[in-house]
Amino acid sequence: MKIFIDTANLDEIKEASELRLLDGVTTNPTLLSREVERTGMKPDDVLKRICEMVDGPISAEVVSLEAEGIVKEAKELGTIAKNICIKIPIVKDGIKATRRLREMGIMVNMTLIFSVNQALLAAKAGATFVSPFIGRLDDIGHTGMDIIRDIMTVFENYDFTTEVIVASIRHPLHVVEAALIGADIATIPFKVIDKMFKHPLTDIGIERFLADWKKISKK
Ligand code: G3P
Repeated sequence: MKIFIDTANLDEIKEASELRLLDGVTTNPTLLSREVERTGMKPDDVLKRICEMVDGPISAEVVSLEAEGIVKEAKELGTIAKNICIKIPIVKDGIKATRRLREMGIMVNMTLIFSVNQALLAAKAGATFVSPFIGRLDDIGHTGMDIIRDIMTVFENYDFTTEVIVASIRHPLHVVEAALIGADIATIPFKVIDKMFKHPLTDIGIERFLADWKKISKK
């Protein structure tokens, strides 16, 4: 499973990229505006820095909701770096824009996916990625991971090459479930990546090994 980080925070991306486990980055207007406020940088400069740090698709989201505007924004975002992937919400004009951008060879990540039908339409339009938001489905009493399983099945049934990005991940168990289903990608917040390393028995084990080693080194 490929691992993307779901943040625009440059410090988090730097720290995570040093692990050399990252295959890409996803941002959204909320995450990017947070980083602009934190650093005082311009949005395009934040995205440029991210593209320099991570060798993989970097999703940058459009704010237009009509096809012409989406394509125009996408072209502008595309000038930032070669690895920019255009994130577009699943609306009718987003689908029209996706088809046009894919014909131009521009990667598209279709976002705010909450149903199998939305993912099917995105795949038919040629989206490179779909991003179902599982945490937000969990929030309203659904089992978000169920749609990942179903989308994977539909894509397999018809040999769609669109990859599934499990998004809106809230805890390490979401990552385990995504991997068990065989999802292509999980986009994970920094805090959750951090938690994936941790186990109390690992800490206790290290402590004991070091204490035992200290005993003989004193002799
Ligand atoms: O990639 C999608 C993500 O940014 C949304 O996550 O936690 O705001 O639902 P969340």
